[in-house]
Amino acid sequence: MATTSKKKTAGLADIIAGESAICTVGKHGKGLNYRGYAIEDLATQASFEEVAYLLLYNKLPTRAELTRYNQRLQSLRAIPDPLKETLEKIPATAHPMDVLRTACSLLGCLEPETDFSQQHGIADRLLAVLPSLLLYWRRFHADHQRIDTRTEAASTGEYFLKLLTGKTPDKTHIDAMNVSLVLYAEHEFNASTFAARVAASTLADFYSAVVAAIGALRGPLHGGANEAAMELIQRFQSPEEVAPALKAALARKEKIMGFGHRVYKTSDPRSPIIKEWSRKLSTLCGDTVIFPVSEAIEQFMWHEKQLFPNLDFYSASAYFFMGIPVMLYTPIFVCSRITGWAAHIMEQRANNALIRPGSHYTGPEPRAFIPVDQRK
Ligand code: ACO
Repeated sequence: MATTSKKKTAGLADIIAGESAICTVGKHGKGLNYRGYAIEDLATQASFEEVAYLLLYNKLPTRAELTRYNQRLQSLRAIPDPLKETLEKIPATAHPMDVLRTACSLLGCLEPETDFSQQHGIADRLLAVLPSLLLYWRRFHADHQRIDTRTEAASTGEYFLKLLTGKTPDKTHIDAMNVSLVLYAEHEFNASTFAARVAASTLADFYSAVVAAIGALRGPLHGGANEAAMELIQRFQSPEEVAPALKAALARKEKIMGFGHRVYKTSDPRSPIIKEWSRKLSTLCGDTVIFPVSEAIEQFMWHEKQLFPNLDFYSASAYFFMGIPVMLYTPIFVCSRITGWAAHIMEQRANNALIRPGSHYTGPEPRAFIPVDQRK
C-alpha cells in the first residue's frame, strides 16, 4: 500500500473550494443571505421572482423591472412540440427528477447554447419552463390531459399550483409556495451547485451544468431528503409512536432524513420560517396528526442527538398540506434552485479555472504487469 497522508478529506468538509459573491451560509456571523440580503427579509418581503432577479442580475429589481421580468417569464413557458412528445413517452412510473433531468437535456438539444452571451436568456427560459415541463408530464400521465402550459399566473408559485390541479389556487397556498421557493433558491457550494460549477468550469454549455446539478440534487442526502422526510412522518399515527421507532432506527445507525446539516451546527435559519408556514397550513386544512408528529420528531432528534431540522423537514409537511404529491417535492427544489445554479454557473464562467482537485492515493505500489495468459 502506498503511504499517504491520513488527512481527513471525507466529503471536502470545511474545505474552501473557491470564491463566491452570491450567498453566505451563516458563516462569520453574517447569517444566511443572498447577495447581502438576509433570508428573513427576503422570505417575508420579497417575491420569488424578485429573488430570482437578484440572484441572476445582481440587483433587486425596481417595480417596473419586476413587472417586465414577470411578463418575460410568462412569455417563456411554451414547450416545443418534440419535447412534449418525449414527455408523453417517458413512463408514468418514472421519478419526476429523472423527467426534469431528461427534459432539461432535450431542451439543450432543441434550443442549444451556441454562445455564452446567451446565458441570461437560457437561465430565464429554464426558470420559466421547468415547472411547465414537470407538470405537462405529470398531468399527461395522471389525468390524461395535454395541458396548455401558457396558463396565466402572476407568480411561479401560483403557476405551479395552477398547472398541478387545473384550478385557481388558495391565496395562502400561493404565499406558502412563494416563501418555499425563496428559501430553496440559493445555498452557496452545496453538492448540486458545486456539481454545476464543476461542469461549468470545463466550459461546457449551460444545460450540461444544470443537468449535472439536477442529478446531484436527486439523492436523499441532499434534495431528496424532503420526500424521504415525508415518508417518515407518514409512518406515524400519533406523536407517542415517534420516540420508540426513532430510537430503534438510530440504534440501527439509520439517518433520519430532514435532520442535520454539513455547514449549520445548531440550527438551519430557514427551518423556523417554513415551520411556521407548515403550522399555518396544518391549521387551515384541519390536520391533527402530521404537524404534531413532525414536532415530536423534531423534539426527539434534538433531545437524543442534538440534531435540528433542516429546510427539507418542514417543507415536506407544508407541501403535504397543500395537497402536492410527495414525488414532486424534490422537483420543486429544482424549480427554485435553478436560480442559484444559474448564478453560480455565470459566476464560475466570469472568472473560470478548471475545477480538478487532487486525491490522497490509497492504492497499490507500482507493480509488474502480468500478461493475461500468465495470470493465476
Ligand atoms: N440522522 C441521524 N444521524 C445523523 C443525521 C441524521 N439526519 N445527520 C447526522 N447524523 C450523525 C451521523 O450519523 C454521524 O454520527 P457518528 O459521528 O456517530 O457516526 C454524525 O451525525 C455526523 O454525520 P455526517 O453524516 O458525517 O455529517 P455530515 O456533515 O456529512 O452531514 C448531512 C450532513 C449529510 C446533511 C447529514 O446530516 C444527513 O445525512 N442528514 C440527513 C439527510 C438530509 O436531511 N439532507 C438534507 C440536507 S439540507 C438540504 O439539502 C436542503
